Order: sequence, then structure tokens, then C-alpha cells
Amino acid sequence: MAAAPISPVTARAHSNIALIKYWGKRDAALNLPAVGSISITLDGLYTDTRVGFHAGAERDSVDIGGRKVDAAPFTRFLDLIRARAGIDYRARVESWNNFPTGAGLASSASGYAALALAGSRAAGLDMSPRALSILARQGSGSAARSIFGGIVEMHRGEADDGEDAYAEALLAANEWPLEVVVAITDRNSKAVNSTTGMSAIDTRSDYYDAWVKHAPDDLAAMRAAIAARDFETVGALAEMSCLKLHGLMLSTRPGLIYWNAATVAAMHAIRELRDAGTPVYFTIDAGPQVKALCAPEHTARVAAVLAQVPGVLDTRISGLGPGAHLLD
Ligand code: DP6
Repeated sequence: MAAAPISPVTARAHSNIALIKYWGKRDAALNLPAVGSISITLDGLYTDTRVGFHAGAERDSVDIGGRKVDAAPFTRFLDLIRARAGIDYRARVESWNNFPTGAGLASSASGYAALALAGSRAAGLDMSPRALSILARQGSGSAARSIFGGIVEMHRGEADDGEDAYAEALLAANEWPLEVVVAITDRNSKAVNSTTGMSAIDTRSDYYDAWVKHAPDDLAAMRAAIAARDFETVGALAEMSCLKLHGLMLSTRPGLIYWNAATVAAMHAIRELRDAGTPVYFTIDAGPQVKALCAPEHTARVAAVLAQVPGVLDTRISGLGPGAHLLD
């Protein structure tokens, strides 16, 4: 038996945005990704999660942003922690995002990373960052990356048990000060979440095999561009991976269309800015928000231009942020 549960623990994990995208699973039960991915962890978007295990409670309870939600998906995840810690206590989980939930701003990434850290500590475990990333991955693939700060690579891995499907940092946040302007074009939760969108094998795209086959080349090119601090190549590769992902989504049966009119207008605005000499590139996940990647000296201009795009409701600016950490 591990140590008895300690008092509730609060952890903060930051959201991340993939520059080389993850989409597709090689094992759904263990949530093993079919492709590796490379992301940046964002300082400005985060989840705080408090977890306590209680001897008297009959079932897990989960609040997100002060509202009770169905605990079932979280119970499955908490069971992984309980099994590892050798405890059977039910948990009380309270979580807050400082950004809209479920609208393509990676709340599952920051959420499960914060839950992995707070939950494991509250259960008396002291897990390494790599082990935490393996745990967080079982909640959400992108969450494995939010365990780390800066620029992060998630490995697809080959092992059946998923022990080599972990994330690790490529650069710390202070090693390359990049910034992101998030253009929010819709505050509502998305219609088809990432897990559902990428799940049904029979509705997958004819392009899926090509997506998986070429991922190692995209990852290698991105790794090299990051090592060389070559912003133009990083940006061009990120835009390419984003458009390739959305090509894949659009060609799924039925096609997944995550963009709205403002999403497309913002993409064009970013390309116009670039044509006029500002180095800025876009990326978009499974939602309608557009994230513009640029160097800090161009952020104010990029944000001002995006704020003027019809349908853009708000903009948020973020630098690169730290890995998941404890708050108390
Ligand atoms: C488009 O990590 O949310 O944001 O593993 O099923 O929880 P699950 O999926 P999730 O998918 C993220 C998809 C993406 C691209 C990315 O973040 O790499």
C-alpha cells in the first residue's frame, strides 16, 4: 500500500497548441497516438485543479468552473491514479479554466495535465514528469504535452503498453521567446470534440494512411527548424501541418468542418500581413479559433489586425509558459 491520502492538492497546467498536429490513435483503450506531435505550452491559458481523496465519499464528484459535471469520464482516469497508489477513496475534483472550455483552446490538455499532477500528489504519489505525461495521455493525448513547458515533443511510441508514448521538452520557455495571438471567433463548445472526431475508423479519410506515413518527416523538419531557431521554417511547417490536418478532417465521412467565416477571414488576414512583411503564421485545432504565431516585436500589430477581422470576438496574447506545477 502507498502512503495514506494527504490533504487536497491544487495544480496548474497550461494549455498547449500543436505546431505539428496529433490526430488519430494507434490504440484507443490506452489512448496511444498514431503520430507524434510538437507543441508550444501557453503562458496565458491555464487550468487550476484541486483534488482531494475522501474516505467517506461514495462516488467521485467533479466541478468545472463551479458547475457539477458528469464524473464518469474522470472516474476512469482517477481509477488509474487509485490503482497506482493502492487506494480506494473517492475524489472531489474542482477545476477552473481561465478561458472558454471545449472551444478549441485545448481545455482537455491543460485539464488532464493538471488533474494528473494534482490527483497523483493528493493520492500520495510522487511521479516523474515523464510518468505524469504517460498518465495524462490516458486522459487526453494532447495533455501529455502540457506536463512540460516551452516547446514540447510527444512521441508516438511503438510499445503495446504505451510506456514509450510520452512527451518531453525540446526547449524551455525562456530559450526562444515566441508569442501567440489567439483570435476567438466563437465562445461556444464545439459540436464534435477531438476524441469523437478522430475515433470512428470506418468514417476516416482516404488520406489517413498518408497522414500517418508522412508524420515522421514533418516532425524531423520541425525539430531541425526549432534547433536552428529558424522562425520562418517553424511557421511554414506549422501552417502546413494545420492545413494538412484540416484537409484530413474535411475528408472524413461525414466531413468535419471546424471553421466558421471568421476563422477563414483571420487566416487570410494573417497571410496578408505576412505578404506585407510581418512574419506571422496561423494554426487551428479542432475548433474555430485561430492562433497566430509570431515574434514578440510583432504581437501588438498582429493582435490589432486580428481584432479588426469581422467575426473576431476577442483576442488573447500569450507567450510560452511553464510545465504543470503545484500551487500549494
Ligand atoms: C487537433 O488530445 O483533444 O488539438 O486524445 O482524444 O483527448 P484525445 O484528443 P485531443 O486531440 C487534440 C487534437 C488537436 C491537435 C493537437 O493538439 O495535436
